[in-house]
Order: sequence, then structure tokens, then C-alpha cells
Amino acid sequence: MPAAKKQADHAFAQLVLTWFDKHGRKHLPWQQNPTPYRVWVSEIMLQQTQVATATPYYERFMQRFPSMLHLAEASIDDVLAHWSGLGYYARARNLHRCAVTVVADHDGELPTTLDALQALPGIGRSTAAAVLSLSGGQHEAILDGNVKRVLARCFCVDGWPGKKPVLDSLWLHSEKVTPAKRTGPFNQAMMDIGATVCTRTKPQCQQCPLVSLCGAYKKGTQASYPGKKPKKSIPVKTTTMLVLRNNAHRVLLEQRPPSGIWGGLWSLPEQGESSLEEWLTSAGLVATEKSESVAQFRHTFSHYHLDIDVVAVNVKQQSANVVLEADAYVWFDGENLPGGIAAPMKKILALLTDDATQTQLALS
Ligand code: ADE
Repeated sequence: MPAAKKQADHAFAQLVLTWFDKHGRKHLPWQQNPTPYRVWVSEIMLQQTQVATATPYYERFMQRFPSMLHLAEASIDDVLAHWSGLGYYARARNLHRCAVTVVADHDGELPTTLDALQALPGIGRSTAAAVLSLSGGQHEAILDGNVKRVLARCFCVDGWPGKKPVLDSLWLHSEKVTPAKRTGPFNQAMMDIGATVCTRTKPQCQQCPLVSLCGAYKKGTQASYPGKKPKKSIPVKTTTMLVLRNNAHRVLLEQRPPSGIWGGLWSLPEQGESSLEEWLTSAGLVATEKSESVAQFRHTFSHYHLDIDVVAVNVKQQSANVVLEADAYVWFDGENLPGGIAAPMKKILALLTDDATQTQLALS
């Protein structure tokens, strides 16, 4: 590595460690007597829970399960009872499974390498590195959610960290800036800076030890980091739904086929590929006046948007009446439906009964 780069990484660590000595948290319960067991339990608890919430749970947990052996020999119900209220109960189940494995396969001691720790249930790379560095001072870089944000902003790492190249880049930055000496305090400080200074919204840049090195601060682009998960783009389909009213003001509904969207539910008929005239002719109906488009709106399914154009027309029945002979059609009087109705149809029918003849619902 070029000397200037090394110098910059050293400066990064120095700023963080000086900040830690002055402002870092040093009295958290898991920082007192930081054995691998105590640090491991704290890291699992802190995965989805803030320090203030986790602390009383941690104290009770440690009183009841003071060692790996106590935890391994406890019942899962007892462990879950001590987790009750923290949520994400898979964490407690993994903790217990992990303790049983460690007692059975590792003499009750957590392994001391990243790979062996990561092979245990519920321990990812960052948690493994936190356990090793915070308890034993091993030189291992961490990358939890808070640290990702600090590094993404500092080094302007674009993109969503859920994408492998982005995550890889963040890991490289973390490895680069993590010092071999005082790794534990450095890692604790990075988590503290992320949690209390370099917050997701309204970061306190004036309090940040990294302000002089921060690329996002320089450009005023803190809010752009880390990049957000890209919204799935889904295709847009279009359809025309027909509101066909007979001279008794009843509206024609058809029952959808059992499979496909709104399967088995009652719906306005779709015009499909044919023209309105062709559709009416094949149904044995004739328009008594001009058709008009009365509403447009979007209904979103998980896999696509459906933009629906609602076309209304008054009709009368011809003698050769195809529609009315089919079981799958009814002239709906507004009250007595033979079965379930597709949700967007309720919206359309409500609009029509509200006399909204020219409603433009915004396409969302
Ligand atoms: N979040 C995860 N690990 C933490 C730790 N050791 N201290 C504070 N917050 C954390």
C-alpha cells in the first residue's frame, strides 16, 4: 500500500480512538469483564435492539445464564422467557442451539477464529469479528448496519449494501481503516459513532471525529448514503373494463375463471382484444347511446400494475341473447351478488352509484 494511503488510514483510526477516549461508551454491562461469552450474548441481543432497551434484558439474562454451560443446560422455554419482549425470537433459539453445540463440540468455549465462529448458528462475519475484537482484542474488522453508514458516507460508497459489490467495497474500507492495535476500542467507537453521531437522519456532523475526512460531508450528500434498496420495477398492463347498464339500470357482471387474477370472483367484464361493438355483438347486446370512459385507475398486484380504463355504455338485449343464458353472468342490481366480488370492482361500482360519471382517479 502506498505510504500516503497508509497514513490516511492511520489518521482515520487515530481520530476514532481519540474520540473514543473522550466520548465513547465504556460502562456498558458487556464491557465489564468482556469474556467471549458475555460479548457474544450482547452482540446477539444488540443485532436488532438498541442499547437502552437491551441493557436490562442483558443483566437479567446474565444473572440467569452466567456461563455457556448454564445456557446450554437450560430449556429453550427458559431462554425464550428471558428474551420475551425483545422480539426476533430466532435470535434466542440460535443462541441456545449455539450454546449446546459449543458445549458438545468445543469444550464449552467459543472458538477463537472467524471461520469457526461463523460456522455456528446465528453468527455472521461482523458478529464473529465483534466477539473476537471486543473480548480478545483480535485484529478483525466489523461491519454492522451503523458502521456501514459511517463508511459509506466517509468514502462515498454508492449503491445499496444488499448488493455484493457494494458490501465487498464496504468490507475493504473497514479492513483498511481498522487498526491492529486497540482494535476493540476502535470497533466499539465505530458502532457508537454510527449509533449516536452519524445517524440515518440528521447526522451530527459537527460532533463527528471523521468530519475532516468525510466525502459526503464535503459534498453535502450525507442523505444519499448508504444507497437505498432499488424499488422493484414491475410491468404495467392495461385493460378496459365495461360497465354495461341495461334499461333496468342493472350492471352486467361476469364470474372470473377459477384460475388467474380474481379467480372465481365477480367482476365487470373485460373488453379484451375485440372492439366494443364486436364485444357487444357477440354478447347479444346493442348500445343505445355512445360509450364513455368514466374512470381510470391503477390496481397493483405483486408482479404488475394494471391500469384500468372503465368504459360505460347503456345497452339493450337482442333476441339472440348469449350473455344472459350463461351461468357466468348476472345483471347486478347493486345489492344481491351471487358471491365474492373483486376488490377494485367494489371501488368502480361505488363510484358509479355515487353518480361520479367523470371520475379521474390519479394513477398512483
Ligand atoms: N451494536 C452492536 N454491538 C454493539 C456494541 N458492542 N455496543 C453498542 N452497540 C452495539
